[in-house]
Amino acid sequence: MCGIIGYIGKKNSVPFLIEGLKKLEYRGYDSAGIAVAEKATVRRVRAVGKVAELEKAALLSDPKGNCGIGHTRWATHGKPSEENSHPHTDCTGEVVVVHNGIIENYLPLKEKLQALGHTFQSETDTEVIAHLIEENLKRVSADNEEQRLLRAVMKTSDELQGAFAYGVLWAKTPQQIIGVKNQSPLTVGLGEGENFLASDVPAFLKYTNKVLFLEDGQTVVLREKSAKVYGLDGQEIKVKPVKISWDQKTAEKGGYDHFMLKEIYDQPQALEDTLRTAKADFVRILGLKTEDLRRIKNVYLVACGTAYHAALIGKYYLENFAGVTASVDLASEFKYRTIPPAKDTLCIAVSQSGETADTLGAVKKAKELGFKRLAICNVLGSGLTRACGSVFYTHCGPEISVASTKAFTSQIISLYALAIFLGHASGNISQSQFGKLYKEMMALPKAVADTLKIEYDVRHLTRKIYKAERFIFLGRNVDYPIALEGALKLKEISYSSAEGFAAGEIKHGPISIIDKGTPVLVLMPKNHLFDKMLSACQECRARGAWVVAVTTPDGAEEAAAVTDKQIVVPKASEYLQPVLDVIALQFFAYWVAKRLGRDIDQPRNLAKSVTVE
Ligand code: F6R
Repeated sequence: MCGIIGYIGKKNSVPFLIEGLKKLEYRGYDSAGIAVAEKATVRRVRAVGKVAELEKAALLSDPKGNCGIGHTRWATHGKPSEENSHPHTDCTGEVVVVHNGIIENYLPLKEKLQALGHTFQSETDTEVIAHLIEENLKRVSADNEEQRLLRAVMKTSDELQGAFAYGVLWAKTPQQIIGVKNQSPLTVGLGEGENFLASDVPAFLKYTNKVLFLEDGQTVVLREKSAKVYGLDGQEIKVKPVKISWDQKTAEKGGYDHFMLKEIYDQPQALEDTLRTAKADFVRILGLKTEDLRRIKNVYLVACGTAYHAALIGKYYLENFAGVTASVDLASEFKYRTIPPAKDTLCIAVSQSGETADTLGAVKKAKELGFKRLAICNVLGSGLTRACGSVFYTHCGPEISVASTKAFTSQIISLYALAIFLGHASGNISQSQFGKLYKEMMALPKAVADTLKIEYDVRHLTRKIYKAERFIFLGRNVDYPIALEGALKLKEISYSSAEGFAAGEIKHGPISIIDKGTPVLVLMPKNHLFDKMLSACQECRARGAWVVAVTTPDGAEEAAAVTDKQIVVPKASEYLQPVLDVIALQFFAYWVAKRLGRDIDQPRNLAKSVTVE
């Protein structure tokens, strides 16, 4: 999982490459590098650490050239080191490659190439691509060097197995960059007299919003004034550019200290934008007529991490409003367990990036099982959206912080919308019930905006406990997944131990980890489960816990009698309440991490899109 960038145009490519890599750091940031065509050679600069380190190194060695490629890495094969940083080269140093993904057959290929006399400089799987191109350049013939490189690259792609997107620069053809896409993302930005290659659009959005989304098996040849796409058979394909409506500002921090905080504050807008299209989109995208909707009996939700927590809430929605049986699987588990084939089954894949390898794998399996497939996804043109028959987009804009916030609440509301539309279409809920639920849903962005006012209170209460060794989150029903999400968010960015439990479960074991002063955050909006949550608070307090209630105004007083602190969020309907409750936990995680001085937007060991299994 890494970020690729390429620039070809009239200007010096280096500033474009560095800037693009900074925008791609969310894909990985343990080392970075660039390679620039300079006269008849290619100059490489690489550095361990974030792109800022590369920038310093590039300033010192000052490479210049109007054609270059770059890479920011998240290690899969070989530790983060300068030798393992991309770009990698062949034996001559003239073929230079940047790559995202995993070459599954790199070991046999490496052995074959070594037997042919190739010497390897790194432990990476990527380096085999460069040597294989070098080898294939000897084997193919063409009228000119540009064509020869294209043929050698296509032959190389044929020999590679796995998920990959890569970019190639050859010293002998400094007027072109070649890009290849197979199961890893790759896009092309079409500028005026300049073109870009990148793993994701923000890398070049400042310069152009005209984008070609490449499909698997496609190869692109970028020149200053052209971008030609070729299919597996080597024939040119016409790909229509898409105009992206996100502007660069949307992808920037907007004055907040961290993208995560900005993205928490983006939520009212994100939900509004998502809901704006919900009605029309669900009728259109489900692509299903009423009689088809009526027939759906089973739903499998598949997702990873935070998206999995959204999917867990989706199960409550689908069963309650749509009256269908829903089960939720971690995508990485779904792929490998036995799923009985069943008619009239819908698989819903939930993913912010649409590039999560496990989720893509689960969808592939759903396809093999003959299930209808719906993606709930935030990224236009991503792998998942192409792998599913229907797509509902969460319109929350680019989510840059590794810790997902606005994508999560947008996913929840999308699942809610889906469930009520499905329930309405299938007759499971009446017209008047639907009208009420719809109205409540449309009022949610405003309630989210009101909820954001709690930041100060949350920030204040973290002062006392941010150094705690372990945190516990408790919830019930639709707030149980929120407890899991609160714990995930906190451990992800603060590195503190945190666990989420169904409140009814603590007496079955987890209560033994509660000690004097252990912070326990209890999700307890005033509803039919409120009394049970009061008991959970008392059970924890009796063991010395420092209990914080996340409650609604009508529950605040009673909660105060059995807890040490209260965070009061506005009240929504029972099924929408989790969207407001999670905001308290997002702020909580943020402020604990901030007080601990953590790298909030790019926590250690993580990357935004997990494009490897
Ligand atoms: C946590 C987080 C991850 C992602 C997970 C799935 O804050 O962001 O747990 O939710 O890696 O990613 P997507 O949604 O892109 O499939």
